[in-house]
Amino acid sequence: MAIQNNIAGKLISIGFGHIISKCAIIAAEHQLDEILSDQPISISEMAKILNFTVEGTAKFIRVLDALELVTLKGDLITASELTPHLDYFLGIHIADGYAAIEQLETTLKGKTSSWQAHYGKTFYEYLDSNPEKSQTFTAWCEKTATAWLTAVLPLYDFNPYNTIVDIAGGNGELLSMILTKNPHVRGILFEQPVVIEQAKKQWAGSEISKRLSYYPGDFFTKAPTEGDLYIISRALLNWNDAASIRIINQCYNHMPKDSKLLIIDFFVPEKNHASYFGFALSDINLHGTMLGSNRSQQEWMNLLQNTQFGSNFVYSNNEESGSTLPICLLEATKL
Ligand SMILES: C[S@@+](CC[C@H](N)C(=O)[O-])C[C@H]1O[C@@H](n2cnc3c(N)ncnc32)[C@H](O)[C@@H]1O
Repeated sequence: MAIQNNIAGKLISIGFGHIISKCAIIAAEHQLDEILSDQPISISEMAKILNFTVEGTAKFIRVLDALELVTLKGDLITASELTPHLDYFLGIHIADGYAAIEQLETTLKGKTSSWQAHYGKTFYEYLDSNPEKSQTFTAWCEKTATAWLTAVLPLYDFNPYNTIVDIAGGNGELLSMILTKNPHVRGILFEQPVVIEQAKKQWAGSEISKRLSYYPGDFFTKAPTEGDLYIISRALLNWNDAASIRIINQCYNHMPKDSKLLIIDFFVPEKNHASYFGFALSDINLHGTMLGSNRSQQEWMNLLQNTQFGSNFVYSNNEESGSTLPICLLEATKL
């Protein structure tokens, strides 16, 4: 069938979508955010800095300009609103995920994760064997936690609790925000040993250090026993339903009676939501790289019903706040 002109442009953009990611990752790896932080730079100056040809640089910058990742006027490149955030694309699941997603069909056929098929190990085994990558991923989680999870604080009252355990809490960014806002609360950061070591360095001597303790471990086999609120933030999205149920049940088995579990995670919004497409892409990337998921409200409820908490979970989300980042909260009490 002949391609009509009005759809040709769409087909071209979709067909070359992989180049969008590649150019963004190259721009991040070459730190264009730093290069452009002070002053505009000409294409030929940029070519020298990047050690690219002038011809290649012109094409590369034209794509970045079309994506609004930089601004090109005549021969001069300046930073755009997005340029300071280029390091977002250095997230290991994005930068190293670029090669892994080549194996997406393996995952779609239900065989294994694309990550496993490409790198021969799971995402977290890959991080474990690469301390530098692990640090980069923790830094990415920290940065996005500061930017995105700040919005969660007004959605939940952390004040009634004495000891808050953050399961898979990354470097402790969310916990630190909660402790800073609630000066009587003690925090326990539960994480993989390698991440705990990074967190200890980060919070040593800080204002919250006296109220923060560390608990290294694997959430498939243990959890602290002394909390009255347990949080699992942005961790279940990395796992399929069966693994997520195991993690939640492990918490359940260690939690004191009457303590609460609060899951903070993303949800796939309705089709008319501004972030629907981004979350559909993120969902399939999670599926490919880690067999994980962004879940709809219904998918969350189906999963949680199969945990030891049963149908005890109460769902809420940040839709009323008008945020374009769809975050939901799921709370249950251990009876
Ligand atoms: C996407 S990050 C979320 C970090 C943090 N909760 C946040 O919201 O910013 C997922 C975290 O799960 C941790 N994790 C992965 N496997 C784990 C395991 N087996 N036991 C404990 N933590 C684990 C990782 O180290 C990582 O910090």
